[in-house]
Amino acid sequence: MKPRAPLMIEHRLIEKMLAVVEREVLFMLDNKVADSIFIDAGVDFIKTYADRVHHGKEEEIMFSCLAGKTMKTEDQIQMQELIEEHKTARKIVGELVQAKEEYLQGRGEALDTILDRLTFLIRFYPEHIRKEDIVFFPNSEKYLTQAEQETMLQEFWEFDRKMIHEKYQSVVKEWRIGSGLE
Ligand SMILES: [Fe+2]
Ligand SMILES: [Fe+2]
Repeated sequence: MKPRAPLMIEHRLIEKMLAVVEREVLFMLDNKVADSIFIDAGVDFIKTYADRVHHGKEEEIMFSCLAGKTMKTEDQIQMQELIEEHKTARKIVGELVQAKEEYLQGRGEALDTILDRLTFLIRFYPEHIRKEDIVFFPNSEKYLTQAEQETMLQEFWEFDRKMIHEKYQSVVKEWRIGSGLE
């Protein structure tokens, strides 16, 4: 198995979730109302799965290994672009969370920002995923030996193994802070 395989499987789940987000955006547009429960679920998916689990493996394992290689300039530029795009997605999700909070505090005009940021994500991810699946992953694997690819896969599994624990340690911590226990 190539290192791109588990990342591409994750891309397929992100695409499936984006189709749900698209439906929800249409619902919110038609009804002129923000569905805060869905937004919370969507933000949790993007933050935990798309960003921490998926971008985490790309950045902390794949890109960091490739950073030690002498890559062609166009591959170096593209890797930097992908990292910048991850940062953009984080910023947009932060703005989405902020807008949802404002909406819940009674500022109805925040609905426009919510819809704008969700629409941005629906358009952004497919293009980002296409770049990785079709261009960057196949091109960058050429810099990795068979042994490095196998090590990378092992590191991916180990990274994933820790994720469920990290997620719920953070959930409990937030609840403890909210309850005044920390
Ligand atoms: Fe990515
Ligand atoms: Fe990706």
